[in-house]
Amino acid sequence: MTRLHDEDSDDPLHPEEHIAPVPRISVQAFCETEQTLAAVTAAGQDRRLAKAHLTAKDGGLAAAIEVYESMPTPNVIVIESDGTRDILEGLDDLAGVCDPGTRVVVIGNPNDTAPYRELVRRGVNDYVVGPVETLDVVRSICSLFSASEAIITGRVIAVVGAKGGVGASTVAHNVAWTIARDLSLDSVVIDLDLAFGTAGLDYNQDPVQGIANAVLSQDRPDTALMERLLAKCTERLSLLASPASLDRVYDFGAEAFDAVFDTLRMTTPCIVLDVPHQWSGWTRRALVNADDIVIVAEPDLANLRNTKNMLSVLKAARPNDRPPLYCLNQVGMHKRAEIDVKAFAKTMESQPIAVIPFDSKLFSTAANNGQMIAEVAKNHRTTALFQNMANRLAGRGEVKKPKRSLLEPLLKKLKGRSGRPSAPHRKAS
Ligand SMILES: Nc1ncnc2c1ncn2[C@@H]1O[C@H](COP(=O)(O)OP(=O)(O)OP(=O)(O)O)[C@@H](O)[C@H]1O
Ligand SMILES: [Mg+2]
Repeated sequence: MTRLHDEDSDDPLHPEEHIAPVPRISVQAFCETEQTLAAVTAAGQDRRLAKAHLTAKDGGLAAAIEVYESMPTPNVIVIESDGTRDILEGLDDLAGVCDPGTRVVVIGNPNDTAPYRELVRRGVNDYVVGPVETLDVVRSICSLFSASEAIITGRVIAVVGAKGGVGASTVAHNVAWTIARDLSLDSVVIDLDLAFGTAGLDYNQDPVQGIANAVLSQDRPDTALMERLLAKCTERLSLLASPASLDRVYDFGAEAFDAVFDTLRMTTPCIVLDVPHQWSGWTRRALVNADDIVIVAEPDLANLRNTKNMLSVLKAARPNDRPPLYCLNQVGMHKRAEIDVKAFAKTMESQPIAVIPFDSKLFSTAANNGQMIAEVAKNHRTTALFQNMANRLAGRGEVKKPKRSLLEPLLKKLKGRSGRPSAPHRKAS
């Protein structure tokens, strides 16, 4: 059971918060106000409720009781209380027509006087104080199916290049490796570049056709099959490798990878998708449905245009999510005219999560040895950049400055310790 609180933050989703999608469930909402009706209707369009069948009507508790007198109840009922009638009495009446197993969310009114424990006693699974925003509704419904059933619901991070060859795979592999090692999170990299993927080479793994077998299998993939297809790279990192062979072509329907991702999410806390630079139904879907998106770009005009376009399309498709993130890579290449980082950030209207310098020796040594940057150069500045990205993307707090300024301890003392308060952790019981 979850209790939600209003938060004073511009970011609707706290960096440490992860809302896991729901399975195929039915949800019916009975709203008293226009605003709630709009929020619930918009929630039905959210990616995390994509599998749910959600309907929203006017009428609150009274309408719900009337409907369910003659109809079976859905998996979830959302009821808004307008504070004018005794909510406990109404819930007692609802209980009389409600099938066991149906979960109830109440969107309360500040005028409700019923104590929370009385609501719980009447079987209310979640109580949210109105007025509610779309994300409050999404969060509340999703919490009924994740927190309460102790299923691991993995976080998906999709990494894609704004152009081919910008280093998207290199970034994806290094970040995933760092999350597994430094944050001790079990992680899987899925190399979605079936024809040309390099994850097997980068992690020095013998060829295994992981992702091809999973996606082309006649049967629905299950956890046991996925376990067999994963190649173990380090203690906590596994790879679903691409065949990187051209024996066949790889045309997929938009939903081809859904079952693979859903199966892995049940057992793996962190999944990094190495998404090839293409715009097809399934790549777009992989990006839209990810918990976080990182676009990797080089500082030139074509990358600038593509990053801008991708940001705006993906933002529009994910109105209740943090905007996609981007990082600049191969910055400072000798004799190359580049768009400077400030100008790039101004066009994007956001800062990059990392600016990774061009370093042909470092990166080619790592690539040729089948090693990560941290293995080649433990104390290198670029290693610290990947560590910061890992922290940020695995939901473990803010990006730290890569280099400590000599004045930093002094400045800290002068300012007093700064930092965001930690996330108000939501409790599940
Ligand atoms: N910061 C960097 N400095 C120098 N070389 C780099 C840097 N980042 C990546 N590279 C090199 O650039 C090449 C392309 O990298 P990578 O394969 O990761 O790109 P990609 O965007 O995934 O390409 P593709 O479009 O083929 O999938 C590799 O040889 C890699 O070692
Ligand atoms: Mg690649």
